[in-house]
Amino acid sequence: MQNDFVQLKQKEFAELKEYIDSVKNVQGILMQTLQKAQDIFGYLPLEVQKFISDETNIPLADIYGVVTFYTQFTIEEKGKHTIGVCLGTACYVKGSQEIIDKIADELDVKVGQTTEDKLFTLEATRCLGCCGLAPVMVVDEDVYGKVDSKKVPEIIAKYRN
Ligand code: FES
Repeated sequence: MQNDFVQLKQKEFAELKEYIDSVKNVQGILMQTLQKAQDIFGYLPLEVQKFISDETNIPLADIYGVVTFYTQFTIEEKGKHTIGVCLGTACYVKGSQEIIDKIADELDVKVGQTTEDKLFTLEATRCLGCCGLAPVMVVDEDVYGKVDSKKVPEIIAKYRN
């Protein structure tokens, strides 16, 4: 019997199958296939990993290993907005942990989690390459530099509507 997720996402699974069929005879397509699947579904739950395993004959354990190894892949459904706080050295010494704690408190989530209303996902990131702006936080594509933890509620409020 199919579970709810598979029932609900029939269109997405059909699109993924079409992609897999188009690259079936190409070697080393796992990374591209996972990326494509993540583009389609937004994340890679076990049902999607199983489907890829069945369609490609790549063992599920291998797929799971790749998905959990590379940070570009996510198993959890993400919120509408992703908040990233840099924990690179420059940001860390300028207090980015305090910013993370403030956001976690404000949203009632831990790092890596998504709020219950699926609006925000909180992530810690590595150096974002703009250390001069430390401490840095990003919301989706928007970069905030020299962030003061007191400003966190104001920044988050912009994305609530
Ligand atoms: S350490 Fe945060 S941007 Fe480089």
